[in-house]
Amino acid sequence: MTKNIAVIKGDGIGPEIVEQALKILSKIGERYNTHFNFSYALMGGIAIDETGEPLPAETVEICKNSDSVLLGAVGGPKWDKGEGNLRPEAGLLGIRKALGLFANIRPVKLIDALSGACPLKDSQKIDLIIVRELIGGAYFGKRETYIDENGHRTAYDTMAYKDYEISRIAKVAFRLASLRRGKVISVDKANVLDSSRLWREIVHQEFSKNEYKNLELSDMLVDNAAMQLIRNPRQFDVVVTENLFGDILSDEASMLTGSLGMLPSASLGVGLCGLYEPIHGSAPDIAGQDKANPLATILSTAMMLRFSLNMEAAANDIEKAVDSALNKGCRTADIMSSGMSLLSCSEMGKAVLNEI
Ligand code: IPM
Ligand code: MG
Repeated sequence: MTKNIAVIKGDGIGPEIVEQALKILSKIGERYNTHFNFSYALMGGIAIDETGEPLPAETVEICKNSDSVLLGAVGGPKWDKGEGNLRPEAGLLGIRKALGLFANIRPVKLIDALSGACPLKDSQKIDLIIVRELIGGAYFGKRETYIDENGHRTAYDTMAYKDYEISRIAKVAFRLASLRRGKVISVDKANVLDSSRLWREIVHQEFSKNEYKNLELSDMLVDNAAMQLIRNPRQFDVVVTENLFGDILSDEASMLTGSLGMLPSASLGVGLCGLYEPIHGSAPDIAGQDKANPLATILSTAMMLRFSLNMEAAANDIEKAVDSALNKGCRTADIMSSGMSLLSCSEMGKAVLNEI
């Protein structure tokens, strides 16, 4: 069997972490008699440098013709001064939109071996999923920067949602919750924002329209959710929220697992093709130094095998291999603690590979 994977290494630590993930995918391919055919595509800062735009049309084509997309990270100080649509991040938003990837799934699970790296005093059994709406809200709404009639520089972004954008993401959350502990918390700011009031109404409408047996739905205001994630993260099973809130809450929640460097993500649309990427950025400060933690990217490939390639057993193999490497004391700098072995990015990749 052949599976076509579009590979976007991106900027900063992107190439180093993706390289580790590809080695692991190749080994998985041998074990499961699957040929992974990698097509490399440019996006982000490197694409701006080489083609003048953050998301060349060719990249969109390659991704659309693939079974799934693996992405490292984009961005860096070199391109920070670019205009809005000439920034590396515009490439990432563009590919999410072009592939219709409205559902971003970010599992936040504290691996036993890392319980010491969780900053909370009492850190047992943190296992939640953030379902973030990915192609709506303030990221894609009408925006403008201009000088007003009094000469003041003014800028605005619009957070807008359509009913169907809310109902389709709510359904994803309900489906996921039915495979887990059955508890959905919808996060909004309905005490202030119109878009949140519609969000809340549609989420409940979708919930009562379908017979979600054994599911429980409740609402939480985003400021309270930010606090509750630290106060008592175990109350959460599936969190569903709009784009910007999900961006912020998922970085916060990632720390519960010990490091931003541990969190994988899957971005899905209506078809099977998805985009898989770590939730962290391109970490330009440590780029090219072989110091980055490749585990979020490696765990993202496990999500790819599970959600896009129908290879659940292979996904489990990778997750178990990561567990074993951590249990043996392998650590990159971001999750290092006393008595453990400090590994480079490539050494960590090798350590996981050895466990497969
Ligand atoms: C993420 C990132 C991106 C986002 C940035 C790089 C545009 O923070 O995937 O969470 O805000 O969506
Ligand atoms: Mg983010």
